[in-house]
Amino acid sequence: MCGIVGYVGRRRAAPVIIEGLKKLEYRGYDSFGVATSCSGIEMIKRQGRISDSGDCASELSGFAGIGHTRWATHGVPNDVNAHPHTDCTGNIAIVHNGIIENYIELKRLLISEGHIFLSETDSEVVAHLVEKYYKGDLLKAVFLATEKLEGSYALLVICGSEKRIIAARKMSPLVIGVGDGEVIASSDMTPILEYARKMIFLEDGDVADVMESGIQVYNEKNPVERSPKIVEWDFESAKKGGFDHYMLKEIFEQPDVFYKSFSSEIDEGSMLDLKKASCVTVVACGTSWHAGMIFRYLMEKYCKIPVRVEIASEFSNFTPLHDSVMVAVTQSGETADTLAALKSAKKENFTTFAITNVPGSSVTRIADHVLYTCAGPEISVAATKSFTAQVAVLMKIVSCLSENFIEKELLGIHPLIEEALLFDAQPAAEICRSANSLFFVGRGVYYPVSLEGALKMKEITYIHAEGYPAGELKHGPFSLLCGETPVIAICTGDDSYPVMMSNIKEIKARGAPVIGIGSAGDIDLEEICDIYIPLPKSSGICEIVTASVILQELAYKTAVLLGRDVDKPRNLAKSVTVI
Ligand code: F6R
Repeated sequence: MCGIVGYVGRRRAAPVIIEGLKKLEYRGYDSFGVATSCSGIEMIKRQGRISDSGDCASELSGFAGIGHTRWATHGVPNDVNAHPHTDCTGNIAIVHNGIIENYIELKRLLISEGHIFLSETDSEVVAHLVEKYYKGDLLKAVFLATEKLEGSYALLVICGSEKRIIAARKMSPLVIGVGDGEVIASSDMTPILEYARKMIFLEDGDVADVMESGIQVYNEKNPVERSPKIVEWDFESAKKGGFDHYMLKEIFEQPDVFYKSFSSEIDEGSMLDLKKASCVTVVACGTSWHAGMIFRYLMEKYCKIPVRVEIASEFSNFTPLHDSVMVAVTQSGETADTLAALKSAKKENFTTFAITNVPGSSVTRIADHVLYTCAGPEISVAATKSFTAQVAVLMKIVSCLSENFIEKELLGIHPLIEEALLFDAQPAAEICRSANSLFFVGRGVYYPVSLEGALKMKEITYIHAEGYPAGELKHGPFSLLCGETPVIAICTGDDSYPVMMSNIKEIKARGAPVIGIGSAGDIDLEEICDIYIPLPKSSGICEIVTASVILQELAYKTAVLLGRDVDKPRNLAKSVTVI
């Protein structure tokens, strides 16, 4: 939900900021802007994507600056609503990620005091508030301004010709990388990796004075120590590396990502608390929720432990199960709905776990235990390798709680995922591209796999797609079936095979083309489906992963055939930090 970057150091700030914003475009890409401080504030801001803007900020001078790539919440995407926003004098510039909830009352007050507003955004109030309190000391002005703000913010503020940024954080991520004679602040680590490995993750209420010599962090106006963490993430893995899209590159990283995530040990403290659980509540959103659903089927099957899986934004509507541990699954670690559910579970005295991909993210500071997925930076908006990594960590939990029953098979999955990656998605994608609507169906654990297949398809192709339990189609959706509504059916050789085959025959009888994904060598399935996609020969547990990979490839290929913007689908953002 918007990405921000700030730089102070020995290099010209604008090029560093622009390259950084390009890496953050997955957070929002409807407009962008950069401001630098040199002999006063210099600024450009525009509607559209920074990656399409050429060398637009080359004329900005100065060694300190801030930038923003936007996902509109308050006010349409246009040049005026784009950040940075300035005060009335043009001497103070700010960028903001988050939502200022009391902006209407602040704006009224500031207008009554003579301030002139240009944009429809909530963020502009921050620039005018800082102006109101600025008496020559920018740090003090930001202290006073942030006291008045309600809501969430990651803020970067510059002023006049000062070679300095004031950064502030409340419930929106902000990381500061400290390099050699340069400091770079950002919404996440990817723009920083090229310049610094030493990262300081600001905490809620922190205000940081950022200069090229280093940073000083304050909380409630008092200096505080925030010990830096050394981040080992590979800078190269945040690049496209010869693939046409980040999504394809990330799909191809999955053999390693699954293996690394599954083979990481769960620490003793976490294991002790997991073993005490008589039931588990999972909260998550989107793809992460689907990973949680897969976990439910496996925990109940292999460990006989009941699992409740809630969409995080719905969690508050239900009575919490006591005697339950809560597992929040979130790639970014910043999803506002998931964080809210986790916080309310803490108040109810749940023992809490976070499964996340991002070291230092907000969820890691809330949960009692943190288990990391080893996916590395995921740039494409559509989650692929992070999903596989979540499934791997969740399978690891199942494996540990069921005395490693499934461990051997999963440790041998690497070549199977590689084989799945060789699958030619073109013929099935040709069918999908001209569909009005698509159904993805499966039974048991393949129901959430179908949900994930449908989500991937709709988010990057814009074709309406729904995931359904295969047995449920006859209770209504059958009326939609026709030659233009292909059904993707996952039918492996598990216990539900005979009923799944009957479901496919019922679908065929209503004229819908069927793309069947099933176990290797299944001639019966091959015979009844229009297209049969065999999974690599393996045991049931590995097929969950290989089928998921094949569905990702199908969505990717269909999106490419339709000429979609695969890595940046319309209207979306990767990190959803609003409720
Ligand atoms: C879909 C996708 C989203 C996220 C969801 C939760 O491809 O990426 O559905 O899964 O927004 O995000 P995290 O996992 O960061 O909490």
